[in-house]
Amino acid sequence: MTRVGVLASGNGTNLQALIDALNREGSSVQVAVTICNVPGAKALARAQQAGVATELLPSKGVTDRTAYDAQLVGLLHKHRIDLVCLAGYMRLLTPGFLQAFPNQVLNIHPSLLPAFPGMHAIRQALEAGVKVTGCTVHFVDEGTDTGPIIAQTAVPVLDGDDENKLAERIHHQEHRLYPAVVSKLAAEPFSIQGRRVMTQGAF
Ligand code: GAR
Repeated sequence: MTRVGVLASGNGTNLQALIDALNREGSSVQVAVTICNVPGAKALARAQQAGVATELLPSKGVTDRTAYDAQLVGLLHKHRIDLVCLAGYMRLLTPGFLQAFPNQVLNIHPSLLPAFPGMHAIRQALEAGVKVTGCTVHFVDEGTDTGPIIAQTAVPVLDGDDENKLAERIHHQEHRLYPAVVSKLAAEPFSIQGRRVMTQGAF
C-alpha cells in the first residue's frame, strides 16, 4: 500500500480528484492524510467528508520555515506517508523537508512548465498571448515550480477565453492527470536522469 499525504491550502479540487480516483476498495494507493496550512480551507472539509484524516498546521505569521517544515515532516511520518502530493499548496518547501522525502514530493501546476511558474499562471498565459497552455505534474525541488517534469497535458487557449473559462478547462485536465501520475509512480519503477524523468509509457 502506498500512503499519500496531500498538502493543500485552498479549494482542494485536486485533492478531491485524488481521493475520488485512489480511495477505492482494494486500491494499492490511497490518500491517507490531508494537511492544510489555512484554517477553514475547503480542502479540509473535502477530506473530512471523504473520511480521510486531516491535520491543520496554520502557517500565518510563521517566520521560521525550517521549524514549520520539521513539524510537517513529523505529521507525515506520524501518518506513515510514502508519497507527498502538493495540491494548491502555496508555500515553498525547505531543504530539510525535501531531504526527508527524496524524489517523493509531487506538485501540480496550471501551465506547461517551464513557462509561467509561480502565482497566477493562467493569467500569465493569457497576457502572453500563447495559443496553447496546460498543466504539469513535476517533482518538487527548492525552487518555485522548477523541479523535474513528470507529465504534461496541453490545453488550447480559445478566442474569447477569460481567466475563469481557461481555468475551468485546465482544472478538468489537472483532475485527470494528477491521479494518473500518482497511480503510475506508485505502481511502476521510474528514474530521474539529470532533469528528465523516465517512466514506462505515457499518461
Ligand atoms: C491548481 O490549479 C494548481 O495547479 C495550482 O493551484 C490550483 C489549486 O486548485 N497550483 C499552483 O499554482 C502551484 N504553483 P485546487 O485547490 O482546487 O486543487
